[in-house]
Amino acid sequence: MRHLLSLFDLTSDEIRSVLALAAQLKQELANGNRHVHLAQHNLALLFEKPSLRTRVSFECGMSQLGGHALYLGQDVGWGKRESVKDFSEVLSEYVDVVACRSYKHETVEQLARYSSVPVINALTDYSHPCQALADVLTVQEECGNLEGRHVVFVGDANNVARSLAIVCGKLGVRFTLACPEPYQFSAEQKLEIENGCDGFQFAQLADVAAAVADADAIYTDVWASMGQEKEQKKREQDFAAYQVNQSLMQAAPESTIFLHCLPARRGQEVTDDVLDGPQSRVVVQAGNRMHAQKGLLVWLLKQQEG
Ligand code: CP
Ligand code: NVA
Repeated sequence: MRHLLSLFDLTSDEIRSVLALAAQLKQELANGNRHVHLAQHNLALLFEKPSLRTRVSFECGMSQLGGHALYLGQDVGWGKRESVKDFSEVLSEYVDVVACRSYKHETVEQLARYSSVPVINALTDYSHPCQALADVLTVQEECGNLEGRHVVFVGDANNVARSLAIVCGKLGVRFTLACPEPYQFSAEQKLEIENGCDGFQFAQLADVAAAVADADAIYTDVWASMGQEKEQKKREQDFAAYQVNQSLMQAAPESTIFLHCLPARRGQEVTDDVLDGPQSRVVVQAGNRMHAQKGLLVWLLKQQEG
């Protein structure tokens, strides 16, 4: 059984296959072809946290592929109304694939343990692999290639940063995390990422201007992720010098693109003029969530069904 709980679950070649399929499906859709690869297949969406992009891109992507998605909020009561084991085993009797957004990463791991259909991580406190697939698809489209490119993430070592680091490591992209030292990956966390990615050029810097000097893409995310609301005020102080604004963009080449997973807190981690400016690719990046996930769904269900 293949799941996507983190990008360690896919080899570099498998990620390339998913991206190639995503690019093909995107092109076919642009040509007006709705490519019914998953006719009568059902995707369950289990969400503990709010979502626009992930939920809607999965629902629309599945519909375009000829299948159906069921959004299941908290009321199905997994882990509350009955055990995760009973819940996951029974859910697998109905649907072909599950995507789950939870606070704790252990929740998706537990779901996968008892599931007889593939489980996709739709964001946990540990990782956001679907986001990272869309991110590298966007860099590939915008920069023409991935190998040797340099992605700089300005923000804390969060779920989005971890998945982006892993996908970069697996695809030969340099990755730099720019943030205050206490918010960087611990030595153990950094080693976990490096061990999964041969020859990875992975740096962490507190000096954000130096970090972006040769960036192909500058990426940021909210300073306090969902579940960290209590730390918001402290993080606003700690990250004040790490805002992505025009002055930081000017420390990078003119060709550098700006990325953000969204939702953004305008005026905090990024200014309006950068988010809405000519270097920003955030809308196409958000659109690519759907194309990347379609590639993933078709690839994953092909592994499952042969
Ligand atoms: N980037 C992202 O996952 O957005 P949502 O939280 O809206 O799904
Ligand atoms: N790091 C953010 C990403 C939201 C898409 C969070 O977890 O809230």
